This record gives sequence, structure tokens and C-alpha cells, in this order.
Amino acid sequence: MEPIDRKTFLATAGAAVAAAGAPATVEAATASGVFLSTWKWGIEANAKAAEVFGASGSLVEAIEKGINVVEDDPKVMTVGYGGLPNAQGEVELDAGIMDGTTRRAGAVFSLHKIKNPISVARLVMEETLHTQMAGEGALQFAIAMGFKPMQLLTPQALEAWLKWKNAPHHETFWLHENHDTIGMVAASGGKVAAGCSTSGLAWKIPGRVADSPLVGCGYYADDAAGAASATGNGDVMTNYCTSKHIVQKMGEGMHPQEACEDLMRYMARSAPNLRSDMYCVIAINPKGEIGALSMNAKQPLQYALWRNGAGALHAAPHFM
Ligand code: GLY
Repeated sequence: MEPIDRKTFLATAGAAVAAAGAPATVEAATASGVFLSTWKWGIEANAKAAEVFGASGSLVEAIEKGINVVEDDPKVMTVGYGGLPNAQGEVELDAGIMDGTTRRAGAVFSLHKIKNPISVARLVMEETLHTQMAGEGALQFAIAMGFKPMQLLTPQALEAWLKWKNAPHHETFWLHENHDTIGMVAASGGKVAAGCSTSGLAWKIPGRVADSPLVGCGYYADDAAGAASATGNGDVMTNYCTSKHIVQKMGEGMHPQEACEDLMRYMARSAPNLRSDMYCVIAINPKGEIGALSMNAKQPLQYALWRNGAGALHAAPHFM
């Protein structure tokens, strides 16, 4: 197994801070918020999150509004409005959010017709005694909270679905895949938060729910340790409680990058056949130090980092 080049990763992350003019203390370094998101759409999400954090001082608010940017963008066909539908042509969304200070989470599963599931998830967390709501009940809750149902299937997503549907031997998910998410973790002043939103696997069996909206899988946050989020094959990653694993390891003293490595090492050791698929994670500790890792070089992770008023897209190291 090729060891990942952690030294290079840490040096690169350090250089990014230095380039932005690193403040002397952790408090100063994280005062305006450090935002870390998956994939290239994380750039705009982080910028919005930083703006909202500047105005509200709330990491949860920042994560919600940052993720909304990606949910609203029809060009991102794996999240929110314009997401690729399930096997019946219905866009079915999952999202979850967690406040590391209260250790409370909120999530929605298999939500139809509402383009901002992360906002509904936040209301589950803040306006109810529940943590997770699914399907028709989640939709009725969203409507009661003032969300307007709408058609989420864009012409582009419809065209892609028809192409899949009409292909003579089209792939189905009574065993198989294709996916991605927006995951975001954030830190400021010793506090952390995390969120995750997805339309899930394209052409999935209706009702399928994977890691993204599950507490401890798609996201987890605890001020005593840090926050993490996952993207990739959620049907598999769910079995590893990836985000909780990483946060727990940070709580035991690991650097976020080491904690990400620890998870991948465990996954690779426990099931060597997992090595070729897409499994990616991001992590942050309360000091604003970060980790990002993909399982292998064939399925590389890009992550967006916002720190000290500047954002950039980076290539994450890979585990093997
Ligand atoms: N990780 C996103 C999904 O598999 O639905």
C-alpha cells in the first residue's frame, strides 16, 4: 500500500495559510471562520458561508446558507434543484446538519419537491424534538414551515433520465452506482459544525437512503473534537459511520488528516475489495486544522478551503 504524502499535504495547507497572511493565534486564525467543503462547487458555498458567518456569527446558519447555493444551482446535478432523479424520474433529496456546540443534529430523508433540504433539516433540529424525518412526513413538515413545493426535475435531468430509462440494457441499482454531494465543515473560536446535502445516487431505487443525511455517517460535529463529512459511495460508507469515526479519532488527539487516514486504513483493511471505489472525507478540528482524503488515485477528491478571507480549490491526497 502506498502511504499518502501527508507531509506534503500539511505543508500545502500551511502554505495556503501563510499566503493568506496567517494570524498569530488560533482564535485570530479562525475568527472569520474556516470553511471546508467537498468538490469544486464548495468554492461558492464557502464564500457564501463566510459572508453569512460575518453577518450572523452562527456556523450553523453559515453552513445552511452555503449549502443552499449548491442546492439552488441546476448545473450541479447531484444536489438539490436539478439533481438526477430516482428510477421513477422523481428527484429525491437527503440532507443533514449538526451543531457541534449543542451536539444536536437535524436531517431529512427522501424529500420530494423542496429544493433546500438542508434548510428543512435545520428546522427539524431547531424547531422539533426529533432528529430525522423522512418522505411524506418530511414534506408535510416542510410545507408547514413555509417551504413551497416545486418541480425539481430540470429539462437536463429529465433528458438524462429518459436516456437511462430508454437504454435497452440500462443499469439498475438492484446492485450498482453514480453519486456526489456537498459536504461542509466549519470552525471558529473553538466551535465546529457540519452539513451535507445530496440527491443521492442517480436512478436509485425509490426510497434509498445512504450516508449523507445520517448522523455520524455523512456528517458529524462535536466542539470537543471536530467535525467531518463524507462523499462518495454512501451505500458502503454508511457501514463505517465514517464521520463519527473521524471525529472520535480527533477527540483522541489525532490531527484531522491522521483521523481521515485512520478511517481509510480501517476500511481498506476490513474490506480490501473497497479500494477501487470512490470514498472521500473531509475534517476540521476546533483549531481550524483540516484533513481531506480520497481512498484511491482513480477517484480523486477536490476540496474547497476558505480561510482568512480567501478561498481556493485543492486536490486532496489519496490513501492508495
Ligand atoms: N454519498 C452520497 C450517496 O451515496 O448518496
